[in-house]
Amino acid sequence: MIREVLIWPDPRLKEKSKEVGLVDAAVRKLVDDMFETMYSEDGVGLAAPQLGATQRIIVIDTNPKPDPEKPQNPLCLINPVLVGGKGEVLWNEGCLSVPGEFEDVERFETITVRALDREGRPFEITDASGLLAIALQHETDHLDGTMFVDRLSTLKREVIRRRMKRLKAEVEETGLHPKDILRAREEAEAHDIENAI
Ligand code: NI
Repeated sequence: MIREVLIWPDPRLKEKSKEVGLVDAAVRKLVDDMFETMYSEDGVGLAAPQLGATQRIIVIDTNPKPDPEKPQNPLCLINPVLVGGKGEVLWNEGCLSVPGEFEDVERFETITVRALDREGRPFEITDASGLLAIALQHETDHLDGTMFVDRLSTLKREVIRRRMKRLKAEVEETGLHPKDILRAREEAEAHDIENAI
C-alpha cells in the first residue's frame, strides 16, 4: 500500500525511533509499504518515521528505475547500526520529506553497517561506497530524528523551512501531491520566461 510521506517540519520526524523486537508479519507489511511508497515517489531510500512509523527500519534501492542493464536491488535494513565510517565526501542530497530541495552534506565516504533483513536474519554491508554509503547514512539519521537539513547552516535551514511551510499550505489547500505542485510551479516559471521574451 502506498502511504503518505510526511513533509518536514513535522514533530514525528524529530522523534527517535524504537528498535524492532520481533520481525513479524506486521513489520514485513510495513517494509512492503515502504518499498511501494519509495518506488512510487522515485526515491532511492525511505525510513519508517517518514511514514509516521517510529521504528528502526529503512529501505534503499540505489537503482529504483527498472533498467535491463542493472536489475533492481532492494535492500531492507531493520535495526541498522553504522559500525565504521571512513573518509569524507560532500554529497548533494535530497529527501522525500523535503521535496524539491537539494544541498551538499558532508558524509563518510565509506561505511559499514550491521542490520537484520526482512526475515530477521543478521547481515553486514562492509565498506559501502558511493550513493549506497550516502543513503545508509541519510536513512539511519532519520531513525534518530535527524534530517539532512539539520546538517546545514541555520540560514539555509530556515530558508528551506519557509518554503516547506508554503508547500504544505498549498498541499492542504489543493489536495495535490507535493511533486505535482512543484512541477506546476516549474511550468509556470518556464511560461513566464517565454512571455518575457
Ligand atoms: Ni530522507
